[in-house]
Amino acid sequence: MTAAPLLPVSLTCNTDLRFIDLIQVVGSELLKHMNFSHEDGERVWLAIQEGIGNAMRHGNKLDKRKNIQVTFTPQANRLEIRIHDNGKGVNLDTLPNPNLPENLLKPCGRGVFFMKQVMDQVVMETDESGSTLLLVKQRRGAEHVAEGV
Ligand SMILES: Nc1ncnc2c1ncn2[C@@H]1O[C@H](COP(=O)(O)OP(=O)(O)OP(=O)(O)O)[C@@H](O)[C@H]1O
Ligand SMILES: [Mg+2]
Repeated sequence: MTAAPLLPVSLTCNTDLRFIDLIQVVGSELLKHMNFSHEDGERVWLAIQEGIGNAMRHGNKLDKRKNIQVTFTPQANRLEIRIHDNGKGVNLDTLPNPNLPENLLKPCGRGVFFMKQVMDQVVMETDESGSTLLLVKQRRGAEHVAEGV
């Protein structure tokens, strides 16, 4: 019997870094349900963690009165993750390259680079409600897995 497709899951919480662990539980289970490999699942999870950390720190400026919303959208052979905050966002294409010699010793500035390494797509969109980071990961070997996710 083919399982019914998984529908999007949305989680909203206030800006409190402790919620990252709770969102991890949902994200990790979803990755398992979608038959992502353990290795890919762990990398994707780290990228999501970084995106949520950025949304809370840079987007919401750690203001506990502000919310973030994380939406997981399972597609047939990829997972889309949207992380929304109340900030103005940033142009991801103009960030300094952390691998340049002058940036090597800087303690920060590696999160977006890491997300781009791990994910197939990393896009920031901004509107009047805030900014949304879209992370997309294709499932490797998806062509060998039965349809129905
Ligand atoms: N959601 C966001 N809203 C606004 N600005 C952001 C957001 N995410 C990232 N930025 C900006 O992009 C910069 C780079 O982010 P990145 O995650 O690469 O580095 P970082 O968070 O400064 O340091 P770290 O290496 O600890 O992640 C940030 O310093 C911030 O200015
Ligand atoms: Mg960061």
